[in-house]
Amino acid sequence: MQIVSTITAMQRLAKKWQRTGTRIGFVPTMGYLHAGHLSLVKRARQVVGKSGKVVVSIYVNPTQFGPKEDLAKYPRDLKRDLKSLCEMGVDVVFTPNDAEMYPGKTGSGFSTYVVEEKLSRPMEGASRPTHFRGVTTVVTKLFNIVLPDVAVFGQKDFQQAAVIQRMVADLNFPLQIIVAPTLRERDGLAMSSRNKYLDAEQRAQAVILFHALQAAQAAVKKKSISAARLKADLKEFITAAPLARLDYVEFFDPETLQPVAQVKRGTQMALAVFFGKTRLIDNARL
Ligand code: PAF
Repeated sequence: MQIVSTITAMQRLAKKWQRTGTRIGFVPTMGYLHAGHLSLVKRARQVVGKSGKVVVSIYVNPTQFGPKEDLAKYPRDLKRDLKSLCEMGVDVVFTPNDAEMYPGKTGSGFSTYVVEEKLSRPMEGASRPTHFRGVTTVVTKLFNIVLPDVAVFGQKDFQQAAVIQRMVADLNFPLQIIVAPTLRERDGLAMSSRNKYLDAEQRAQAVILFHALQAAQAAVKKKSISAARLKADLKEFITAAPLARLDYVEFFDPETLQPVAQVKRGTQMALAVFFGKTRLIDNARL
């Protein structure tokens, strides 16, 4: 496994592979990898096959964190990540630093951003106004550096995957996006690097996100129900966990991300819940 930290070296390698018709599968990450990330890596390998190359990027992207968010204390363990990726048979890990990605002192040599203007607005976009601008910008940069044929993203970040798919279609990136299923802990909590922040009590109560998804599934199994009514019920359900503070719960069309008035089978649900300063998200197709 090769570790590459400069853009020039990564692009040189990717161009060489392109010239020989070698397919490139790419998994962008912010590191602190868990089994969910590794399932994306496995999927990338399945798609490009043994003759293809799998690249994983590890980069905690500052532009997708708001000023009051957890950038400085975002969990990192590069040594452990590299060991896991090596065991998975990854070909290249791309680990740039901030000076490489956003040149100039504190990024002053950088001034071009990519903004998706529709799907990025509600939910995560409303709670974290500059978040998706940072995601679409860094993902564009990574696509231009790694030159993938296929890139794999996780379903847990449903809105992120939707925004990236739209960006790829709108801007004609010549690559395929795959969205792979969410991996869950035994009790149903979606795997996330941020789960590490939870203390024992918060961790025990964090399963309320999964239970809320299950409760909504059950509510629409036989009949449709008004979104306002279901939101009110779920708000009560979630805040019964004393450490949970609901940020949002939304019901929407999975393609347009527009809110629906009536929730039925096929409606997409997403929610964000704080436990202390830790904000967890989850979603499901009902
Ligand atoms: O999902 C993530 O980990 C990040 O948003 C991504 C896609 C790696 C961009 O920094």
